[in-house]
Amino acid sequence: VTRTAAIVPAAGRGDRLGPGAPKALRDLGGVPMLVHAVRALATARGVDLVVVAAPADSVSEVQALLSEHGADEPSVGRAAAVVVAGGATRQASVAAALGSLPEDVDVVLVHDAARPLVPVELVDAIAAAVRAGSPAVVPGLPVNDTIKRVGLDQEVEETLDRSVLRAIQTPQGFRREVLAAAHAAATDEATDDAGLVEAIGVAVLVIPGAAEAFKVTRPLDLVLAEAVLARRRAAGVVLL
Ligand code: CTP
Ligand code: MG
Repeated sequence: VTRTAAIVPAAGRGDRLGPGAPKALRDLGGVPMLVHAVRALATARGVDLVVVAAPADSVSEVQALLSEHGADEPSVGRAAAVVVAGGATRQASVAAALGSLPEDVDVVLVHDAARPLVPVELVDAIAAAVRAGSPAVVPGLPVNDTIKRVGLDQEVEETLDRSVLRAIQTPQGFRREVLAAAHAAATDEATDDAGLVEAIGVAVLVIPGAAEAFKVTRPLDLVLAEAVLARRRAAGVVLL
């Protein structure tokens, strides 16, 4: 049988969100952002284990937080969640979690803690696409703004063709050996795992992303996240 693990990089500080607790531990509707993300992953049919990469000095605190919200123990239809120490970069955090996976895991999803409202259906779609034979699968959305490349002098050098651009989200899904090889070969820092996989020459498939899988990066994103959560709660379609 195929065993699937979901890695959750959650060791960042959240500098762009402004001063406060580490971003993954910030409150969203009364629950830490990380707990929302873990709950969505653990609830997905295709996920058997969730591994969180927490700030190295907060591993036991984060484990306790998951326990407090009932997000660590496995239950019917829900995977267990464990916590490991993350690293100084997102890439190092993912690598640390990857190195801790049980041997029998053969599909790995990587999902940012900073995307707390990812629809469970998107998690399942990514896992299913990997199981169906794609070595690397990422969610992508059309780009709304016009994207221009600028020089150091801020002068425009090129306007890119928006129709062929995609904004890439997480969860990103991989055959385990592909992700492991990509991390082992990594020289430069990449902003996502698919970037490392592309660098070793493996094809990466893009499937339709989800607007609600947006990343909480700046203060305005938190306002949007609170609004989305409130709408879900009013409609009675919530995990938390
Ligand atoms: N991340 C991580 N380890 C790091 C840095 C980032 O696990 N050393 C995680 C973050 O916790 C987040 C995800 O990677 O869930 C995406 O990164 P980003 O949105 O950039 O989060 P931060 O690095 O925390 O934010 P900022 O760049 O604004 O400081
Ligand atoms: Mg960052």
